[in-house]
Amino acid sequence: MPEHPPHSISPQQQAVEEELVRTVAASFDATADGRLRELMQSLTRHVHSFIREVRLTEDEWKAGIEFLTAVGYITDAKRQEFVLLSDVLGASMQTVAVNNKAHSTATEATVFGPFFLEDSPEIEIGGDIAAGAPGEPCWIEGTVTGTDGAPIPGARLEVWEADEDGLYDVQYGDDRTSGRAHLHADEQGRYAFWGLTPVPYPIPFDGPVGRMLERTGRSPVRAAHLHFMVTAPQRRPLVTHIFVRGDEQLDIGDSVFGVKDSLIKDFIKQPTGTPTPNGRNLGGKPWSRTRFDIVLAPAGA
Ligand code: BEZ
Ligand code: FE
Repeated sequence: MPEHPPHSISPQQQAVEEELVRTVAASFDATADGRLRELMQSLTRHVHSFIREVRLTEDEWKAGIEFLTAVGYITDAKRQEFVLLSDVLGASMQTVAVNNKAHSTATEATVFGPFFLEDSPEIEIGGDIAAGAPGEPCWIEGTVTGTDGAPIPGARLEVWEADEDGLYDVQYGDDRTSGRAHLHADEQGRYAFWGLTPVPYPIPFDGPVGRMLERTGRSPVRAAHLHFMVTAPQRRPLVTHIFVRGDEQLDIGDSVFGVKDSLIKDFIKQPTGTPTPNGRNLGGKPWSRTRFDIVLAPAGA
């Protein structure tokens, strides 16, 4: 038996470790920016607490540094492995939770993800965001209202999604634009568009984050979803998704912890030949439809 079993330390050793935490935290005492001081001192305490709790070995410390170095090396203008790491650790969703406080009937927010692009094409209500992306057509409709139930005419909706092969346009590397667009709600706050029935797809897993998921027996797959970003004057911007009820990945687990029950919607399959809501001719292709009524919180809520 060692004198002190693992994770149990002598009072003398404890005093040494605690003194170091105090010294490092105090090294930030003169930080003029009070918020920065708070962040650095809290970070110090949490990092030291982690090292002490798990009794981090020097080899593990080195492996951690090598892992973070690899995360940095693979990161460039198009690939943000640090955000991916934050996503799979649930840190992104925790930040979303802290910054989007539950407010009355407001629609819940979820993770932004790396595939949003500024300057998406504008479509009319009833237009098609797929722009040739392969997949089953899906009619998505709903309203945008405030928490008082009043419609928000002109609310801007940005929508983006992967195709049936689980890829966003930007992942093809050929400058195509598909599976994304923006539109505006009408005078009654109504919107509608054609997209694709979402399918589950993996987050990029060919880098250090993917290797970490593999070593820990975790799936890189995200539950099938369609992204929304909804904005309007005097309203809190909403970044969210809708998920597909019945998607098996909902039971297995979403790799970035983005699912909220309130965001799981029925995507109802339409028998072949069912007339479409706006007369679009789908040439007999099957299609689905769903409804997502969006409620925006007031700005500052
Ligand atoms: C996505 O929804 O597209 C996504 C979110 C987090 C990490 C990777 C992808
Ligand atoms: Fe996504």
